[in-house]
Amino acid sequence: MKLTDDDKRKLEGEYGTVIAHAMRFLADLGEAFDAEEMIDLDFAHVYTIEDYRIPGHDKTLLAEALEENVKCVIPATAWISGFEMDENIYRKISIDDEKREKIQARIEVSRRLGITCINTCAPYIMCDQSTPSFGAHIASIESSAVSYFNSALGIRCNRDGISALFGAFTGRYPNFGMHLDENRKGRHLFKIEAELKNTADYSAAGYHIGEICGLDVPVVANMPRPSTEEMQGFCSALAVSGAVSLAHIVGVTPEAPTEQAAFQGGKPERTYHITNNDLDSVYEKYNSPSDKVDFICLGCPHMSIHDIRKYSELLKGKKVRSNVTVWLMSSVQNIYLAKQEGYIDILEQAGVTVLTTCPINNPGIPGPNHTSINKDYSIGNFATNSMKLLYYSRNSFRPKKTFFGSTEQCIQAAVSGTWEC
Ligand code: F3S
Repeated sequence: MKLTDDDKRKLEGEYGTVIAHAMRFLADLGEAFDAEEMIDLDFAHVYTIEDYRIPGHDKTLLAEALEENVKCVIPATAWISGFEMDENIYRKISIDDEKREKIQARIEVSRRLGITCINTCAPYIMCDQSTPSFGAHIASIESSAVSYFNSALGIRCNRDGISALFGAFTGRYPNFGMHLDENRKGRHLFKIEAELKNTADYSAAGYHIGEICGLDVPVVANMPRPSTEEMQGFCSALAVSGAVSLAHIVGVTPEAPTEQAAFQGGKPERTYHITNNDLDSVYEKYNSPSDKVDFICLGCPHMSIHDIRKYSELLKGKKVRSNVTVWLMSSVQNIYLAKQEGYIDILEQAGVTVLTTCPINNPGIPGPNHTSINKDYSIGNFATNSMKLLYYSRNSFRPKKTFFGSTEQCIQAAVSGTWEC
């Protein structure tokens, strides 16, 4: 692979052990995927993995990075689940002082490394100007963010893990996968004939298409223009039933002004017709008959400020049933803004908890820590409008029954205590 003189200096240790390891990792990654060169990155969304060690080293990579005064060389944000701005929320979700100190320590380390802790899985809806522009090359963790970046915004990234952090440390990344034009070409055509009425329908459609596509790039025709939340539902589901990192929606996403453009002048290998029956099959698989509901979770992926407002309007003057727990999830800055706008007051008065945690990665309740500590733990009957969350919930908080439906159905169930089919 072609390396610049500066890449070589990094590799040879001129910038310290951590940068040398990061560069070696990226170079090996590039070799494994036949990358011909390294490219500059514009941004990285990272996870600061606590216990990662350079092979043969006693100290963690993060400890070594601090000792060597490593700093990200490009704008970088981090997702640290479990960070909350409110004492009461820590109590509600059973994050004790010990866990809280660990979360705070990770935040401190991230900051010292030059990373901004925005604590969200949806960095693309940050309320600032640093979201990269069309065509930018970035590195990112979180499959739903990767799918959204590539599809909705035309920003190029692969499904990264620690490579995102190494990209932030070096500013470099091997040119392979979704960074290359040829891999962004549509493979199969999906003609939407189903009626897509809400976020859950988009999520179900994404789930069904992802199952068919696996790693391939779908081109979706005849899809009504999705809202942000619907697009999030669609992209996140594509990335969970399959490993789809990019979908073109004709007339909607930036690389698909026409069907021809989405296929880069070529033809689809296969054409599928997505009907109401296909969506029904997803609903039937994950829905139980009407019953009481115990836990409702919305905002997977994290919701925008506009969606927080919408939920506050839906719940204004209503009260969540006393035995039902309702979580809405968004980013730190959206929650801050929503507080100023008065939306959080409305939601809290209704009995909803608004938090930045991911329920799946959450170190408190109902996260996997809890299910692994207490083998008998179950969250009870669980409802959501996100196929991604439903899919992961099965192992993470062992629901007795699951319900999947529209936002309105979820809110109705929150108030009545019962899921109506
Ligand atoms: Fe975000 Fe967790 Fe859902 S990371 S996409 S809220 S599963």
